[in-house]
Amino acid sequence: MKNHMNRREFLHLTGVVFGGLLLTGAAGTFLNGCAPLTTRPIPVDSPVDLEFSLRAISSEVQMLPGRPTRVWRYEGELLRGDPNAMQVLPNSYLGPIFRVKKGQRVRIFFTNELPEATVVHWHGLHLPDTMDGHPRFAMGSGEKFTYEFEIMNRAGTYWYHPHPHGQTGAQVYAGLAGLFIVSDEEEASVGLPEGKYDLPLVIQDRIFADDDQLVYQSGGMMNVMMGFLGDRILVNGRPDYSLSVDAHPYRLRLLNGSNSRIYKLAWSDGTPLTVIGTDGGLIEKPVQRDYVMLAPAERIELWADFGQYSPGTTLTLKSLEFSGTDSEQMMMMNSTPLPNGAEFDILQVRVDRAAEEPNLQLPEILSGSHSFSLRDAVNVAKTRSFVLEFKRMNWTINGRTFDMKAVADDEKVKLGESELWLITNQPGTMMHGGMMGGSMSEEMAHPIHIHGLQFLILDRQIRPEKEKEWETVQAGYVDSGWKDTVLIMPGESVKLLLRFEDFTGLYMYHCHNLEHEDLGMMRNYQVVT
Ligand code: C2O
Ligand code: CU
Ligand code: CU
Repeated sequence: MKNHMNRREFLHLTGVVFGGLLLTGAAGTFLNGCAPLTTRPIPVDSPVDLEFSLRAISSEVQMLPGRPTRVWRYEGELLRGDPNAMQVLPNSYLGPIFRVKKGQRVRIFFTNELPEATVVHWHGLHLPDTMDGHPRFAMGSGEKFTYEFEIMNRAGTYWYHPHPHGQTGAQVYAGLAGLFIVSDEEEASVGLPEGKYDLPLVIQDRIFADDDQLVYQSGGMMNVMMGFLGDRILVNGRPDYSLSVDAHPYRLRLLNGSNSRIYKLAWSDGTPLTVIGTDGGLIEKPVQRDYVMLAPAERIELWADFGQYSPGTTLTLKSLEFSGTDSEQMMMMNSTPLPNGAEFDILQVRVDRAAEEPNLQLPEILSGSHSFSLRDAVNVAKTRSFVLEFKRMNWTINGRTFDMKAVADDEKVKLGESELWLITNQPGTMMHGGMMGGSMSEEMAHPIHIHGLQFLILDRQIRPEKEKEWETVQAGYVDSGWKDTVLIMPGESVKLLLRFEDFTGLYMYHCHNLEHEDLGMMRNYQVVT
């Protein structure tokens, strides 16, 4: 009875406080010139399984031996529910890791304590559009918003980050990002490494100035058009990352949280990578790859059996050489200390101890079938087509750039339908005449992300003249699972199968090279009835 009273009191308090603030959020939305939130205020007594607070704040973290580095970061607190539902990474600017179960209802009281507008996007989650962190819902400094949703996704490694238009790259770079890990019963029955054998690894690149502060976009316009590339690789927010492991299998959950860097992951000793999951969770069966490509926002889950090494062994996770992702002219006009495709180390692993738990075998089957039938798609005869092209000195999708409210006719899809989307990377034109003399063809790799759903990759094609460079990355694609982000190389076209379920509304699709996104390589799509 006492607990019950306390809970009622608590709910009453949060109801008063956040009820009022929710209105503030809606008013802020109006100021941005968009439709007001259609979400009803959350009834105070509506039961949720987990309640969190989340603040975006400016802060400092000791990252280098010298001075603390100023960052922006998410700080969270579990207010109600399973204490394991929020996990903090020590000494990191990264936000707390949400660890939730499919079917749970979560409520997150968000406060923007930054000096500028922001909004939180739950990357990969299947949510109502009002909860998805569309830039039209960006809230000003000091404003609050209550996110509330049910976890409908299958188990997987999702993440969250800011999405205010034009500032996403800068805000993620300043440190705003975190993992959102979902588990479910299907996954629990597989027998994967758990607890200390389940490790999240967020890979990012940064540039530090002499005073140990982060530097963003000092390279001018070419730098912006290519995307930011740092010369220092951070893992979980730490430079020179090294992992002390047991001689035991691990589940490694890798997220490329970089603004625009693409990684070609491989073990230094040549052991193939054993892939067990992609953006949207476990794949059907483990696959082996000599290397795996990981573009911005993509996730890959590895089974890493450190039990095959004797204690004392060290190995390195590297990024190997590749070519063709970046425009050569932009590379030439831009001094990037560590270009995409350079070889470097990402992290060290030291096998320090014998295992504390009994060994595990790599499961042969990881998940039920993801099979689909092409007959499910309503547009087999006339695939919806998106062309990625450099035009009018900007990266465009079907010749368009972002407009907060605009949805073209060819960006409207129907609730309950499945569709094929063909996304094609095409050479565009840099400039006519002018200083470079004549027009030059421009093309870059674009990691294309679609909000609100997970899709399947059906097919990839490459233009013959780009085949040679494509061969340096092609064997590293893992296209067999659910995805929300797909790397599309110069010359490449990729066919996807998508299904629009449960929610109507305005969602985004965009390039997840965050500088491209901020330049406007982003569009709305609308799910209609
Ligand atoms: Cu991870 Cu629209 O973004
Ligand atoms: Cu997203
Ligand atoms: Cu792009």
